Amino acid sequence: MTLNIILLGPPGAGKGTQASRLVEEHGMVQLSTGDMLRAAVKAGTPIGLQAKAVMDAGELVSDEIVSGLIGERLDELGNETSVIFDGYPRTAAQAEALDGILSARGRKLDHVIELVVDEDALVDRITGRFSCANCGEGYHDRYKLPKVEGTCDVCGNHDFKRRPDDNEETVRTRMAEYRAKTEPILPIYEARGIVSKVDGMAAIDAVNDAIEAILGSDAS
Ligand code: AP5
Repeated sequence: MTLNIILLGPPGAGKGTQASRLVEEHGMVQLSTGDMLRAAVKAGTPIGLQAKAVMDAGELVSDEIVSGLIGERLDELGNETSVIFDGYPRTAAQAEALDGILSARGRKLDHVIELVVDEDALVDRITGRFSCANCGEGYHDRYKLPKVEGTCDVCGNHDFKRRPDDNEETVRTRMAEYRAKTEPILPIYEARGIVSKVDGMAAIDAVNDAIEAILGSDAS
């Protein structure tokens, strides 16, 4: 069965962490608009040049740009692949655009999984986050260190990096954006009966177990 899943939650809720687990376990594809935008910034494309200052400030990039990226990526994938939307949609306009994008491709939303977290924990999670500069595997200063100090578990690389928007001031702006623009889209999906809430404060494995239980046999 081809699944279309949204992982919704504030910055640092664990969307990327859990999406990676679903990719590993079920061969789904993670569509992270944050990752797509960071790749565009790195490549110096026109979208990247436009997005950089907005992202560094913790504000939202335009709806047209991110919905365009999602549509393009889905076209590359074809219709037989299960996808996880990570960090998209983030506004009512994006939620509406996603409906059109999916129906034009014969897809429909199956699950919206909301990671519910305590806001005070998020600053700690985000400011402690780092990743492998080679393969992008994510780590945390306290919650997920490489097994061998200074060496990526996945690719053995020794260089790590931190995101420029992972400082406390920008995180506060990102959270305010989430509360003002993203949280209000939840009722759209609640009205369709496709929202499941998961305790995002639990340990990473426990959050994964809860998501697996929601997906059940659909994901196998
Ligand atoms: P984006 O990259 O989407 O960032 P975000 O939503 O702020 O989310 P994060 O990646 O910070 O957090 P996450 O929930 O994935 O948490 P993670 O798993 O890493 O967006 C960045 C920017 O791009 C935006 O500000 C905006 O400018 C732009 N943008 C992107 N999409 C856009 C859109 N649709 N529209 C407009 N603009 C857009 O976990 C965080 C840390 O916590 C990690 O270190 C992890 O190891 C740890 N952790 C995770 N789970 C747990 C757990 N259960 N217990 C303990 N630690 C945990």
